[in-house]
Amino acid sequence: MSHRSRQGYLHEIAALIPRDASLVLDAGCGVGALTTLINQRMSSTQVVELDLSKYMLTHQLKDLIEQLVSRIQALIPKFPFKSGSFDAVVAVQSLSEVLCFSGRDVLLSTIEEIGTLLREGGAFVIMDHQNPGDELVDVSFNDKMLLQLERFQNSFEYRPFSFVVLDDERVRISMRDLYEFITKLWAFDTPLEQEEMQETHTPFTGEEFATILETYGFTLDVVSGVVPIEGYFKRYKIRIKSKPNLPQRFFIVKATK
Ligand SMILES: C[S@@+](CC[C@H](N)C(=O)[O-])C[C@H]1O[C@@H](n2cnc3c(N)ncnc32)[C@H](O)[C@@H]1O
Repeated sequence: MSHRSRQGYLHEIAALIPRDASLVLDAGCGVGALTTLINQRMSSTQVVELDLSKYMLTHQLKDLIEQLVSRIQALIPKFPFKSGSFDAVVAVQSLSEVLCFSGRDVLLSTIEEIGTLLREGGAFVIMDHQNPGDELVDVSFNDKMLLQLERFQNSFEYRPFSFVVLDDERVRISMRDLYEFITKLWAFDTPLEQEEMQETHTPFTGEEFATILETYGFTLDVVSGVVPIEGYFKRYKIRIKSKPNLPQRFFIVKATK
């Protein structure tokens, strides 16, 4: 997904951060795509960007307002901050990476830690990949895409992946596997292929994530989907034969401590 097409939903996330927040932590900030939008919306809000990757921290987008940003290289959940330091914490597509590369227990400690970093009444805003569920759908792929699907089945390492060829035109596949495939296809023959095959794009549903937050004492404000999956079908000329309710590609959850 290009930087330009991400701007739409990043705006939605920025809009969920309380306007009066003075200090915001972006956990797993990448190149600062969200920070640029926070800088534009809130001219006195300081953003602390945290990422494990030195590359990300040193290849930041040019339109950041440097006086409003500080950066720290650290590994989530080892946050080097005092309790109650932040008015808001945001995590955009980073907690699924914590889950994939460090495991569920570390993800849960991360949520607990973020709870302690927030002041009372502080906001936690998360956007991440959505698990659309295991419902089976019938899909038609052209020959080229069918070969790609077979290649994906042999390459994807994170969990078992399956589909059944029904006839020359149709394949039966779970929505979860279909979303996994069409959102990772871009990685074939790129330097990121190996890494992408080791992580999932369907880690949890927004509702599951929201339930976890509630068990850590957060109060839910918003649980919603964002980015229709149909755009991917169009891009790859895939037709879906059955017409289930297709969950959005990502979820957004906002919760308050
Ligand atoms: C998919 S990128 C998203 C970046 C950014 N939030 C965005 O939306 O543009 C995930 C980022 O999380 C960072 N990350 C993943 N696991 C991390 C961890 N355990 N500690 C710190 N950063 C992490 C990666 O280095 C990467 O920059």
